[in-house]
Parts: sequence; structure tokens; C-alpha cells
Amino acid sequence: MKKLENKVAVITGATSGMALATAKLFVEEGAYVFITGRRQKELDEAVAAIGSNVTGFLGDSANLSDLDRLFETVKREKEHIDVLYASAGVADFVPFGEVSEESFDKQFNLNAKGTFFTVQKALPLLRDHASIIMTGTIAARKGMPNLSVYGASKAGLLTYAKAWTNELKSRGIRINVISPGPIETAAFEGKDDMKKHMASLIPMGRMGQSEEIATTALFLASADSSFITGSEICVDGGMAQV
Ligand SMILES: NC(=O)c1ccc[n+]([C@@H]2O[C@H](COP(=O)([O-])OP(=O)(O)OC[C@H]3O[C@@H](n4cnc5c(N)ncnc54)[C@H](OP(=O)(O)O)[C@@H]3O)[C@@H](O)[C@H]2O)c1
Repeated sequence: MKKLENKVAVITGATSGMALATAKLFVEEGAYVFITGRRQKELDEAVAAIGSNVTGFLGDSANLSDLDRLFETVKREKEHIDVLYASAGVADFVPFGEVSEESFDKQFNLNAKGTFFTVQKALPLLRDHASIIMTGTIAARKGMPNLSVYGASKAGLLTYAKAWTNELKSRGIRINVISPGPIETAAFEGKDDMKKHMASLIPMGRMGQSEEIATTALFLASADSSFITGSEICVDGGMAQV
């Protein structure tokens, strides 16, 4: 039996990278998946790459009206949600002294505020015993240069997961955070020097792949993780662990 047979999943920011890899794996495991992103062409390509059992939704996760439209669409098409994966996020690599207000607001608006309201607005559609997953980062636990704002904007997700676990426990809803280390996605395209540097900092000696996040998300989405909630799983080759 497939691990997500007949489940409905919503994955934000899923036209590339680790969330797209997750959407593909969820569909292979029997789920119907809604994916989101802001660019129509990339969204169409992602829907085509997934192939079946997928709806593409054009929207910005930092925009609350777009989030309302997203969940209206999910309600109209499928009525409920079994798995919500709030993955849309943005990182600016900027030294402390050069951070602008615009960059600060952009990161907090999507990572902290957008993630908060994505989950809040999904609540009426979430089935009892649903699984909520959010994408954090190990930059929230390590003092990574140039990532202070990014790390801080994602650190709140760990607090959300803990508070919401208590608030939603009567519904049996589980909430967990995946904190990736450096993963080879579009975020690192054309940045070979940075990739080499990152790999040198990781005990396993390499960057991670999107599929290694997807298998972790599948674990958290499925009954395989039925006794895990309020937790963080770091998928980082040991970078923030040793
Ligand atoms: N790559 C890493 O090393 C790493 C490490 C730790 C954590 N993370 C986190 O992991 C998540 C995914 O990262 P990734 O590297 O896989 O990303 P990616 O390949 O750069 O893709 C980002 C995805 O998010 C979408 N997106 C961006 N802003 C959005 C918005 N405001 N609303 C809706 N969708 C939006 C993008 O599509 P559009 O541009 O079309 O909207 C795209 O589909 C992010 O939360 C990121 O912060 C990444």
C-alpha cells in the first residue's frame, strides 16, 4: 500500500527545488497535490513534470488574499487537506552591516508571516490527524555569517510548531519542522565557490539533494511518523549537529 493513498496535500513554493521533489514523491505515493508558486511558466512546467493528480495554483505566500484564494480553490476541488507543507521561503545572503529594510521585510513577510498565515488559513480545511510540515533552516540554530535575518525569520517556525502542537492536540494534528542544511537547488545556481565552501563545512563532505528532503517530508506526512510532533528534523549532513 502506498504511504499517502487518497490523501490531499498542499505544498507551497513547489515549482522547483526540494518542494517540487516532495510533490513528485507524494504523488508517486498516492496523494493528490496542490502546488504553488508566483511564476506561471515555472508553475506550468512543474505541473507537467508531476504529470497527474496535481493542481497548480499561482499565488504569493506572502500575500494574504492569495492565501485565501488558494484555500478556496482547495475547498472547491477537494474539500479538505490531509498534509500541509508550508515550504515557500526566501533567503538573502547579506552581511549584517549592509542589510536593508526592504530585504529584512521581504524575508520576514514570507518566512515568518506568510508561513504563519498559510497554516492559520488552512485550519478549517485540515482533517483531524492531519500533518503540518514547515521548512526551517539550520541557519536558525547556527551563527551563520550573512544569514542573521534569514535565520531569525525562520527561527519562529520552531516556536509555531511547539505552540500549535498544544493548541491543536485535541484534533490529533501533528506539526513538525524540517530544517535543511545546504541543499543543491536554484538558490545555489552558478555559485560554485559557495557550494565548495558549504560542502567543506558539512561533516558528510557534500551538499544535500532535494530528494533527501522529499523522503523526510514523506516520513513526516505519513503514518510512519505517527508519534512525532512539535519536533524539528535537521537534514544537514551533520552540519549543525557536530
Ligand atoms: N536550498 C537550501 O540550501 C535551503 C536550506 C535551508 C532552507 N531552505 C528553505 O527551503 C525552502 C525551499 O528552498 P529551495 O532551495 O528548494 O527553493 P528554490 O528551488 O529556490 O524554489 C523556491 C520555490 O518557492 C517559490 N516561491 C518563492 N517565493 C514565493 C512566494 N512568495 N510565494 C510562493 N512561492 C514562492 C518559487 O517559485 P516562484 O519564484 O515562482 O514563486 C519556487 O517554487 C525555502 O523555504 C528555503 O528558505 C533552503
